[in-house]
Amino acid sequence: MKTEKVPYEMQIFVCTNDRQGQSASCADNQGEVVFKELRRIAKERGLHPRIRVAQAKCLGQCNLGVNIMVYPQGDWYSGVRLENVEDLAGKYLSGNP
Ligand code: FES
Repeated sequence: MKTEKVPYEMQIFVCTNDRQGQSASCADNQGEVVFKELRRIAKERGLHPRIRVAQAKCLGQCNLGVNIMVYPQGDWYSGVRLENVEDLAGKYLSGNP
């Protein structure tokens, strides 16, 4: 095992967990669509992978999804919808973190 500094300036974790309706999950509110759109924007702006938009398989607040966690900022978003992606991209994917 070796240790080193985190190789990303920022990581945006978007929960894409899908419990197929058996219990609440971020898929109920299009977690994967939100993830794909944020990642698409990051790539389009040449920020990925310096700023990494990553899938999370559960962030533990399943009734509040879609949930997003941003490091190193330590920001947390619940109830994210596709229409919020533009605002999130403006905040984190403007190229001036
Ligand atoms: S399913 Fe998204 S936080 Fe658990």
